Amino acid sequence: MKILVINGPNINMLGIREPDIYGKQTFSDLLDLLARTAKEHALTVDQFQSNHEGVIVDKIQSAYGVYNGIVINPAAYTHTSVAILDALKSVAIPAVEVHISNVDSREEFRRFSYPALYCEKTIKGKGLDGYRQAIIYLKEKYA
Ligand code: DQA
Repeated sequence: MKILVINGPNINMLGIREPDIYGKQTFSDLLDLLARTAKEHALTVDQFQSNHEGVIVDKIQSAYGVYNGIVINPAAYTHTSVAILDALKSVAIPAVEVHISNVDSREEFRRFSYPALYCEKTIKGKGLDGYRQAIIYLKEKYA
């Protein structure tokens, strides 16, 4: 099984960015966790991060016919991007949404998610482990 992990804006700043909310683990720690999870579960897991909405849309489109699962943390675009929602619907690849923080216990505007209207599951507030849980969910359901 081939899984694409997509991270939106500022996720590359993990470890530096608001550590009281997102923790002290770095983006590099996240890449290590993904590599370990891939190895442990005998999966191909590729990671893509961008700060640009259209580039994320392009990446989702390019996943068509290549990946059989998507794990996506659209970051701030979660709350604004119909384009990312439409891209996910276009390729119709099973997808799980991840948020490192518990978006429900933060500002009101973080409670609504466009990608959640497509994704079959949302994992929030589990820190970096949420990515591992999302990958395992996709494996158990689709591998
Ligand atoms: C986030 C939550 C979003 O509201 C925020 O804009 C992010 C990160 C999370 O992983 O908790 O950038 O997606």
